Amino acid sequence: MKHRNFFQLFLFGLILTFFASSCVKEGPLGPEGAAGADGTDGTDGKDANETCIICHAPGVVDKIAVEFQLSKHEYGLAAEEEAGNTTCAPCHEQEGFKYVVANNVKCDFILGTNGKYTNGYVATSGTAYGKLLCATCHSSIHKTYASSDLPALTTTAPAALTMWGGKKTINLAADNGSSNLCVKCHQPRPQTNLQTGNSQDYEAIAANPKGIAHDTLNTTNNIINPSYRMDLHYGTVGTAFAGVGGVEFAGTMGYSSSPHASVASCTDCHMGTGVVGKAGGHTFFAKGNFTTCNTAGCHQSPINDSNITYWIDPRAKQKELLEALAAKLVVNGVEILNQSDDEEANLWYALTSKHYDGYLNVYDPSLNPGGNANETGPFRNSAPGSAWTQAQKDKNNKLPKLQLTNAQYGAILNFQFCLREYSLGIHNSKYTKALLTNSIAVL
Ligand code: HEC
Ligand code: HEC
Ligand code: HEC
Ligand code: HEC
Ligand code: HEC
Repeated sequence: MKHRNFFQLFLFGLILTFFASSCVKEGPLGPEGAAGADGTDGTDGKDANETCIICHAPGVVDKIAVEFQLSKHEYGLAAEEEAGNTTCAPCHEQEGFKYVVANNVKCDFILGTNGKYTNGYVATSGTAYGKLLCATCHSSIHKTYASSDLPALTTTAPAALTMWGGKKTINLAADNGSSNLCVKCHQPRPQTNLQTGNSQDYEAIAANPKGIAHDTLNTTNNIINPSYRMDLHYGTVGTAFAGVGGVEFAGTMGYSSSPHASVASCTDCHMGTGVVGKAGGHTFFAKGNFTTCNTAGCHQSPINDSNITYWIDPRAKQKELLEALAAKLVVNGVEILNQSDDEEANLWYALTSKHYDGYLNVYDPSLNPGGNANETGPFRNSAPGSAWTQAQKDKNNKLPKLQLTNAQYGAILNFQFCLREYSLGIHNSKYTKALLTNSIAVL
């Protein structure tokens, strides 16, 4: 169907007005002549409005934008809090993410003039801003104004792991690699070696569980200082899902992955069809919308959170293993792992009975200001902050030091890894079960 658009009507109006004003001085009009033959239709002009409504229509962008209000990408506060921070920007700021993708910024560790390594995965101060909105993931919005501008993704290339200085990549091929986009951000941050500044050698730690990671008497070869925040950050899910990234101690269980890693994609479970409660579509929440578990010939009968085999049992098992591992990480009757009753700040509050958050029970008056049973941490901090008061330093010095074997250090990392993948084993129960089981055994 051909429309006459606003601009054509407007032009027509202008011509009429001109014609009318130019007739003023003429004499009276003669009788009307016979109507001439109709002219042929002109070619339709390019109609801007029609291009826009490919996307700007109630069922497309408008609807998705409303779903997206339920996504932490939009409502989360980290983008605002970390604005200007070039280290955090590759994952927390839209413009920073676009910068590292466009410039193929590597996450290698670079040797500095001081003989120490630093991670090179940083954005620039000019790009360290922007909430994670549509253009974070979609590369071509408003590029040509054609329908091909969506959903074109920013990247689907295999994701290099910053935790290992880019020496390994993850390639999740299902759904044309869309999970690689997610894993570029949803991956652990590096543990750095105290001596070299380089990324920690997980294989060496796993191969030598009796070795000492932190010696309280002879500190010259220590590879780590245990601190409250000796952690993997928040994104362990990407690596857990792919079945890599843990400290793989040898043990009774081999390291393999559940089929999800090869046949499913993040969007399969996190962008289910339609919005149910606050799950599905561009809310990015999984629980409550498992419609996609049953498509593509995967699970035959519908899965929901009362399913014994695929939800209740594996989750109960992972919770049990996490708690058993925490119970083994004890020095003189005091647990090394921190518990936090702050339901909002502790994103993993509901996953264990004691409400572990993956941090360490180490004294730190600024980062760990109490709120748990041990107030500010019962173990001595081996690297007191320069801003601490003398009273705080004195208090710290009275606390017992925390010596760690490689087995303990690796087990702590594995605990964080398996707690912070959030799903209690739904992502990749085989891999996380092996990490926890073998960690318990090695202790
Ligand atoms: C391929 C899809 C697509 C097409 C075609 C498209 N837009 Fe958009 N537009 C978007 C998306 C996605 C957003 C971001 C929406 C949001 O953040 O809620 C957007 C946002 C906007 C905004 C808000 C400001 C901004 O940039 O975020 C305006 C204004 C806009 N579009 C105008 C237009 C006009 C005018 C046209 C036609 C000439 C058009 N768009 C065509 C997808 C499209
Ligand atoms: C640019 C980096 C980036 C990309 C790409 C990205 N995310 Fe995120 N995602 C984040 C950050 C950062 C947060 C937390 C934001 C905050 O708290 O301020 C988050 C939050 C989430 C959450 C909510 C987590 C919670 O604790 O409630 C889910 C679910 C999620 N992302 C899934 C995905 C999926 C699925 C993809 C791929 C389709 C993806 N993300 C792509 C960085 C990213
Ligand atoms: C390799 C990517 C990456 C880098 C680099 C990174 N983060 Fe994150 N961060 C994430 C992801 C992904 C999440 C959200 C995970 C989730 O909730 O599932 C997150 C979550 C957070 C949260 C929790 C927000 C909340 O919802 O409670 C804070 C705080 C945070 N990051 C701070 C930082 C700071 C500060 C830096 C820089 C020093 C940093 N991050 C660097 C990926 C990264
Ligand atoms: C965290 C990453 C991410 C963000 C942010 C994001 N999307 Fe998407 N979007 C995706 C992925 C992944 C797909 C699926 C792509 C595919 O299957 O090829 C998708 C699909 C789409 C599609 C096509 C299929 C559909 O669901 O209708 C549209 C349109 C779309 N997104 C619009 C938007 C708009 C508008 C916003 C902002 C309000 C937005 N997206 C924000 C990742 C994202
Ligand atoms: C087989 C389904 C499935 C796949 C595939 C999947 N997830 Fe999940 N994901 C879950 C479930 C189930 C939870 C836990 C939800 C809950 O308990 O509320 C979860 C939780 C999360 C969370 C915490 C926020 C939330 O929604 O509770 C993030 C972030 C996340 N997944 C990211 C990812 C990323 C990134 C990928 C791809 C690398 C992925 N997931 C693949 C099922 C899946």
